[in-house]
Amino acid sequence: RVFDALGIVVMPAFTDLHVHFREPGFTYKEDIESGSRAAARGGYTTVNLMANTNPPCSSMDIVNQVMERVGSVGLVDAFQCVSITSGMQGDEISHLDLITEPVKCLSDDGKGVASSGLMLKAMQKCKEKGLVIMSHAEDASISKDDYRLAENLMTWRDLQLCRESGAHLHMCHVSTKEAIDYITQAKLEGLNVTCEVAPHHIYATDSLDYKVNPPFRKMSDIEAIIAAIKLGIVDAIATDHAPHTSEDKRQGAPGISGIETSFPLCYTSLVKKGHIDLCKLSDIMSRRPAEILGINKGRIGVGCEADLVIVDIEDCYEIDPQKFASKGKNTPFAGDKVYGKVLITFKSGRIVYDYKDE
Ligand code: NCD
Ligand code: ZN
Ligand code: ZN
Ligand code: ZN
Repeated sequence: RVFDALGIVVMPAFTDLHVHFREPGFTYKEDIESGSRAAARGGYTTVNLMANTNPPCSSMDIVNQVMERVGSVGLVDAFQCVSITSGMQGDEISHLDLITEPVKCLSDDGKGVASSGLMLKAMQKCKEKGLVIMSHAEDASISKDDYRLAENLMTWRDLQLCRESGAHLHMCHVSTKEAIDYITQAKLEGLNVTCEVAPHHIYATDSLDYKVNPPFRKMSDIEAIIAAIKLGIVDAIATDHAPHTSEDKRQGAPGISGIETSFPLCYTSLVKKGHIDLCKLSDIMSRRPAEILGINKGRIGVGCEADLVIVDIEDCYEIDPQKFASKGKNTPFAGDKVYGKVLITFKSGRIVYDYKDE
């Protein structure tokens, strides 16, 4: 095919460490098929699915059902998290003994694990089994006034427990200056910690009135996060793709349908503005997140799977949620003019998304 514009780039396809496909239980918001299509449309061929489904994913039964569905849809590769606490409530973690391949990560999304003792036990289990434990410390808000303090405290605590246990701790949706400062210190100390940042937390500030966890932050927070990206402290961009119906949003559900706007938000706010180059963005959208999952993707080279994305970095276009493949059209960025358009996504050499088909 001949492309008629300058600015066409081939990159490794993206890997998203933090995605909600809502199966089982909330398929009216998203399901594995619509979520897979949304991922492919966003340039992603690998996703790590959160466990806050209904019922929450606390057993290999649910993991296996999800994996089977993902396989039969066949558009992306997926990993399914198991919840840290059984049923994502209470203090029971004996289900962790039954976790086997292909599970890579544990995660209680939407809340941190309140008890430090319990979190330590879970981390020790992760260390023993070679699993990654995902911390949602920044979901730990208690009330609107003290949320920032509570979240920062839990970030700090989880880093101490990481030191204590030696487990691989992955900090989700890091968005405050304090959190990234603590993580920087921990990394300097050599702790086994990685972290992700969400595109919307880099792209917009708290002047935007839209409900998402963690909330939009101040300009000074964004500056600290971007500085950390430049320094190589941030391992991955992860979308926290959280699709909801418009009715659920009206009733206060937090979250942004973000997997189809991830590349343009990052390209526009990081590369176009001159903070980092495209190679660095590729590194945190593809190579590093794949490495965290322990898979051989996200690079172009011998023995690496041919998961690729073709993007146009010259074309300026408007975000239109009505074009989303996701069931969730919930985005505060409708109508925004952005750079960085996904044209074609290849999964193992096969086209799984082509803008020409829209
Ligand atoms: C999450 C969701 O919708 O699953 N929403 C979000 O804003 N990140 C749940 C949560 O983390 O509160
Ligand atoms: Zn979370
Ligand atoms: Zn959350
Ligand atoms: Zn989430």
